Amino acid sequence: MPPATLAAVAPSRVAPRGSRALTRGAARRAPSCRLSAVAPASRLRSSPVSASGPRPSSRRAHSLVAMAAPDDAGADEGADAMSVFSPSKVNLFLRIVRRRPDGFHDLASLFHVIDLGDDMRFARSASVTRDTLVCSDDTIPLDGRNLVIKALDLFRAKTGVNQYFWVELEKKVPHGAGLGGGSGNAATALWAANELCGRPATEEELLEWSGDIGSDISVFFSKGAAYCTGRGEIVEDVEPPLPLDTPMLLVKPDVGLSTPQIFKALDLDGLSDEDPLKLLERIGKEGCKDEICVNDLEAPAFGELPELLELKERLRREGEASGVASVFMSGSGSTIVQVGSDAVPEFVEKDEALFRAKTRLITREKGKWYEPSALR
Ligand code: C5P
Repeated sequence: MPPATLAAVAPSRVAPRGSRALTRGAARRAPSCRLSAVAPASRLRSSPVSASGPRPSSRRAHSLVAMAAPDDAGADEGADAMSVFSPSKVNLFLRIVRRRPDGFHDLASLFHVIDLGDDMRFARSASVTRDTLVCSDDTIPLDGRNLVIKALDLFRAKTGVNQYFWVELEKKVPHGAGLGGGSGNAATALWAANELCGRPATEEELLEWSGDIGSDISVFFSKGAAYCTGRGEIVEDVEPPLPLDTPMLLVKPDVGLSTPQIFKALDLDGLSDEDPLKLLERIGKEGCKDEICVNDLEAPAFGELPELLELKERLRREGEASGVASVFMSGSGSTIVQVGSDAVPEFVEKDEALFRAKTRLITREKGKWYEPSALR
């Protein structure tokens, strides 16, 4: 079996930072990705794709290649490979409209892609039976329960392209965070698979198909700022409502929240009565304010995790002096977003149990994928 290595490919630049308007140049094909350097494997833990679920966390880190490759699953030697940034998102407001007969909820939310993201590498695999996923986080399942594998299965089913893939995933976005980290991985996998196979699908098709495997994936096929309705999978591009270089800080307790559980605990009588289209109009004119950045999932999340309400209130209180414009929860939690200043308050600085990350809004041009801002 040839050694399976993925190549790091120099990323290309996208939308200018600090621009209020989206850059919408003519669609351009991404440059083809050529092998340029052997990917560093040192920080990744690895495992063959297996139906037996997550690996025991006691397992030691091994060489990526040695551990990860089942006999028939090496990356094609000399094949194109690509390194891709896998972003996450915040919800600048999130209104729940109704509970649907199918158990899902219709929502109306302004999503924005952000530059807190994971690093992913993709190559076409020699396997004719399975994808291989290796990941730095050994609590994450690597089999068909993982959205990346679901995305690759979807890609093959929809395009008819019988190609399997080798995928490396270095996690930086926490899960159970309301940041859509796993959804971003799935969208990135669809994007990369399509690129590696010569673009059999259009971006519009990728967006449409992605709704089959999750509600929060389609938004990543927008340009970065999107008003989403339905389950979240109906995506309408909007102009970014804030300058892209608006300072933002994400703070999350070490406890995550389960999205289905938060939706289940939602009291439909306790919803905000703000018209989401008015919120959309106001945020474009007035920027982030607490009365605009409403999230109907805060109440059930704070019910499940009272310390989250305390965290929000403390960030709000302590941010008064440092120009914080608004503090709110993203998605179904448990991340609290501070907008207007990315200064880390002293109480957060001192509490090692709190995840914290400065972040910026990002956008992309049609034909290109997301890249981190200059902050990273
Ligand atoms: O679509 P996704 O897999 O992200 O949804 C996870 C769960 O969150 C769903 O099974 C459902 O319980 C809940 N959900 C919902 N309404 C939405 C999105 C998600 O009730 N719009």
